[in-house]
Amino acid sequence: MSNLAPSILAGFKGRRSVYSLANESTISDERIEEILSEVMKNMPSGFNTQGTRMVVLLKEEHQKLWDIAHEIASASVPIEQFENLYRARIAGFRAAYGTVLFYEDPAVFKPLEVKMPIIKDKFPEWLDHASGMSQLAVWTLLEAEGLGCNLQHYNPMIDARISEQWKVPKEWKSKSQLVFGKPTGPPREKTSEPLSSRLFVYGK
Ligand SMILES: Cc1cc2nc3c(=O)[nH]c(=O)nc-3n(C[C@H](O)[C@H](O)[C@H](O)COP(=O)(O)O)c2cc1C
Repeated sequence: MSNLAPSILAGFKGRRSVYSLANESTISDERIEEILSEVMKNMPSGFNTQGTRMVVLLKEEHQKLWDIAHEIASASVPIEQFENLYRARIAGFRAAYGTVLFYEDPAVFKPLEVKMPIIKDKFPEWLDHASGMSQLAVWTLLEAEGLGCNLQHYNPMIDARISEQWKVPKEWKSKSQLVFGKPTGPPREKTSEPLSSRLFVYGK
């Protein structure tokens, strides 16, 4: 097999937070579903528990989500905070094409809690690790397909209403919302902290 590392690295370099998004997609809905399915099938998870769950909302369903976020945020935070921090941002997310809701189902670890009680305290953290891996994979792949994405955390504020609206089991732990659409502007400037205080190699 040819060396895939340069292509994979190019994918990581191309993954950025993009906030200027249109209500259009660069790929078909079927291709979006295929990418999510492949991520589900190929991501690692602790003891191969496969607790990651995704719900993807497209077009009107996506708009409904951000209408709900607007409604809940406007009723939950002080008005000044809502105007400064929420109104325009939520309108920006709503203007995009879709959102992937990421969840983890803690029930997958139940049998292992009995089998391995000594490490059971680590299981919630491992669900988070697995979720992060899936989030990165979806984000990278959608952007490799020409879409722009940004990652949001309106949970837990919107969780109950989402469960009600899209029949999401209440037991699933909500992790994040990845907003995506056709990019209409570049990502923001990004600085990188020096690697000398972040990466350490011994035995070279
Ligand atoms: C764990 C995690 C949480 C994040 N939460 C948010 C968020 O709630 N809202 C947001 O706009 N961006 C969020 N981001 C995106 C980061 O702000 C962004 O990745 C970082 O500034 C680097 O920019 P880049 O994505 O363009 O490389 C999050 C990223 C990570 C990894």
